[in-house]
Amino acid sequence: MKGKAILAYSGGLDTSCAIKWLKDSYDMGVIAVMAGLGQPGDLEAVKEKALSIGAIDASIYDAREAFAEDYVLPALKANALYEGKYPLATALARPLIGTLLVEEARRHGATAIAHGCTGKGNDQVRFDVTIMALAPDLQIIAPLREWAMSREEELDYAEKHGIPVPVTKQSPYSTDENLWGRSCEAGPLEDPDQEPPEDAYEWTASPLDAPDTPQYVAIGFEAGKPVSLDGETMEFLELVSRLNEAGGSHGVGRLDMIENRLVGIKSREIYEAPAACILIEAHKALEALTLTREVLHFKPLLEQKFAELVYYGLWHEPLRAAIASFVDSTQERVSGTVRVKLYKGACTVVGRKSAFSLYDHALATYDKSDEFHHRSSEGFIELWGLPLKVWGGAGRS
Ligand code: ARG
Repeated sequence: MKGKAILAYSGGLDTSCAIKWLKDSYDMGVIAVMAGLGQPGDLEAVKEKALSIGAIDASIYDAREAFAEDYVLPALKANALYEGKYPLATALARPLIGTLLVEEARRHGATAIAHGCTGKGNDQVRFDVTIMALAPDLQIIAPLREWAMSREEELDYAEKHGIPVPVTKQSPYSTDENLWGRSCEAGPLEDPDQEPPEDAYEWTASPLDAPDTPQYVAIGFEAGKPVSLDGETMEFLELVSRLNEAGGSHGVGRLDMIENRLVGIKSREIYEAPAACILIEAHKALEALTLTREVLHFKPLLEQKFAELVYYGLWHEPLRAAIASFVDSTQERVSGTVRVKLYKGACTVVGRKSAFSLYDHALATYDKSDEFHHRSSEGFIELWGLPLKVWGGAGRS
């Protein structure tokens, strides 16, 4: 055998065939790695499957905590939404999985890392670039970019080699999920003019079937981090999963978008991200109350860049960390409580309060307690408008 390869294993048909294919084509022993990121499913069973197909070793890593704290939280503080919409669940997970793969390679003295990404998606870029940044010496193998098998040929290949194939009717969708959201593409979604069929959704109730009474949730933040739910202090990870439940039951967090992939393709994706949608809305609302106008107007420029870098697989680009530092420096006073109403697919901020609130009732009110000095505006406007007054008069005589 010519060394060992670490394979990011999901238990699906592609990565199952990859175990056998890597052995045959590269003469490598395959070590399967499974990362627990809050996706449903039994990872122990997945591990057993890898071993039964011929992996020489297999390990499960529960990376939920690290994912929530080190990847999701910086994204939340940056209100990170690719193209203004997608909360980046899959994109954030890839650099973490890449890190686990590199660590596993070092533990086993492996010389290669393999993954089951196709040649036309974003995820291959994210895995490859992460591995290139962390371990430039390791070989990267993406069997799906190399074997020219169609779906049918792959099923034949699996059958020929005794690889268990899915017995249930194959779903037309391609999905990915972790605690920050679920993505779904392909099948009927490839017609961008067709409304997503209800069976494309798994995390969220249809707003039509959602409860007729709204649910209010109160989210407590400290320095930009959610720390409590309805007054109960809790870990960020737990809070995210509770909001996925609550939001999902009210049909909150469904997104339907045409997105620009890094490799130049426009694709139609739907997402379900109840917690991400609720938390980003709530976080923005608290920022609106506690940050100055200048910070509020400037920060989104960097937020957009942060989201792009994450989407493009550039988690390790120094600019990403630099933006995260800037974002952190703005969060010191983003503490307080935001009340959000979940109702029939909508999540609406209905209240916000903070010890650092910059909202001054005496300045804002129109009633008799008004303390704003109206006459000061005269002089302010005189100078503010002076350049335009000069411009407006120029060339008139
Ligand atoms: N388009 C999203 C991204 O690039 C999600 C892709 C996840 N894969 C899937 N089969 N749905 O981050």
